[in-house]
Amino acid sequence: MQTTPLPPNPLRDGLTTRRTPEPCAVVIFGATGDLTARKLIPALYNLAHEGQLPGGFAIVGFGRRAKSHDEFRAEVREGVAEHARFHPINTAVWDALAKGVYYQQGDYANAGDFQKLAALLQQVDRERGTAGNRLFYMATPPGQFTEIISSLGVAGLNGPTSRLIIEKPFGRSLATARELNANLTSVFAEPQIFRIDHYLGKETVQNILVLRFANEIFEHLWNQKYVDHVQITVAETLGVEARGGYYDQSGALRDMVQNHMMQLLALVAMEPPTSLEAEIIRDEKVKVLRAIRPILPEQVTKNAVRGQYAAGSLAGEQVPAYLTEKDVNPESRTETYVALKLFIDNWRWAGVPFYLRHGKRLPKRAAEIAVQFKSPPAVLFAAESCAPLETNVLVIRIQPDEGISIRMNAKVPGTALNIQPVKMDFRYGGSFGARSPDAYERLLYDAISGDSTLFIRGDEAERSWQIMDAVLEGWKSAPKPFAYEAGTWGPAEADAFIRADGREWRRP
Ligand code: BG6
Repeated sequence: MQTTPLPPNPLRDGLTTRRTPEPCAVVIFGATGDLTARKLIPALYNLAHEGQLPGGFAIVGFGRRAKSHDEFRAEVREGVAEHARFHPINTAVWDALAKGVYYQQGDYANAGDFQKLAALLQQVDRERGTAGNRLFYMATPPGQFTEIISSLGVAGLNGPTSRLIIEKPFGRSLATARELNANLTSVFAEPQIFRIDHYLGKETVQNILVLRFANEIFEHLWNQKYVDHVQITVAETLGVEARGGYYDQSGALRDMVQNHMMQLLALVAMEPPTSLEAEIIRDEKVKVLRAIRPILPEQVTKNAVRGQYAAGSLAGEQVPAYLTEKDVNPESRTETYVALKLFIDNWRWAGVPFYLRHGKRLPKRAAEIAVQFKSPPAVLFAAESCAPLETNVLVIRIQPDEGISIRMNAKVPGTALNIQPVKMDFRYGGSFGARSPDAYERLLYDAISGDSTLFIRGDEAERSWQIMDAVLEGWKSAPKPFAYEAGTWGPAEADAFIRADGREWRRP
């Protein structure tokens, strides 16, 4: 399918939820970390390049290591040169941004250091016109979240003109997520808290709601009457890289399913919101998460499969087993692959399985949502055809090669009646040309503008953990994860798991 963007239309293009960002100082805790260098500062630079930052703007790095403002500026410039979307660095844009870059050395638990930060922020308000608005970004390991939150409160930096972005992982169980929520809301009000999930910043993920609710042709079929099942896949070729220490305590379910994949599921399955307001959309997401039937611990072997990669080869290279990765316990039972079957007990989705599958060291990097429709009635072509007809599938490709495709049956040209599946394909690249902004760009822009639609609300995070907790509980007494060779599509048990329902995994 060739799709061409329509010419400008003031009415249609006026339907935008973009807000004008107010002046603001972004304070980054974990300023010398990897996330800051690779994602946060490059995203802010990209926004500056596009002229989307407010007039009064500054970045304040807060970290344990001593360094001057200039040293910090030079350091983050390297990250921008390497990771920003716009190459090479535009010196005029960078110089203007860099003038508003500051650094404060300090300890996260030291009240005096937070007083210094408060004083620096006042200086920044005077020098950069940031008008007392602050956006605190917690880009530290989660062990430091509580100290930072309480230090911000003690220093009085939690006033109504402050907002706070908190990175994942948001807890590691329902109990720890509740504790973190309680901590946060004892210092900040819920509307000031922005729990980030970078999947929500991806263009294709935002497009799920547009596809569903800006088109008339899909939503009528989007229910148990027409949909056989849904497969949500996030496959990665990477292993645990340098994050073995974190990952071994976490595993695939906590690292990817609880947050990113449950968000995808919520967007695909939720009811139409009555408006685009943040709270209304988030209410709908929570409603659908509440309707998910938790997998009881005793049913875990029937409804979930976990795997762990053994040595294998990927793209022609030998890769090591998970158990021999750096900082991983050689006896670890942590899963690097997970497949789940979930049911949503509501009117729309009763009886429709949602299969979620994620793994590291799979043969391909691909994230997609496939809505698999039921077979047409077995009359006419279906009755005549010797082989069963392929069913319709609508695939939302989240990455790479972002787009949407629909599989349907067509007659093969010729005198005989041969039917073959064909694909209608929409590709972002082909239709819109420009490269999509990085997820962090969109999310930082929204947080600066005070729009929390694409951030997770506290009750959403808790409900998702409640569902994960039941699985984790079941795994405590279940056999250890099944091994799969790196570079394959997961353990054979995962194939048997879906085949037992008369279905097959897709090969993205
Ligand atoms: C992160 C996980 O949240 O998401 C990583 O901690 C994972 O383990 C990453 O690799 C995947 O993100 P993306 O955007 O590359 O799909």
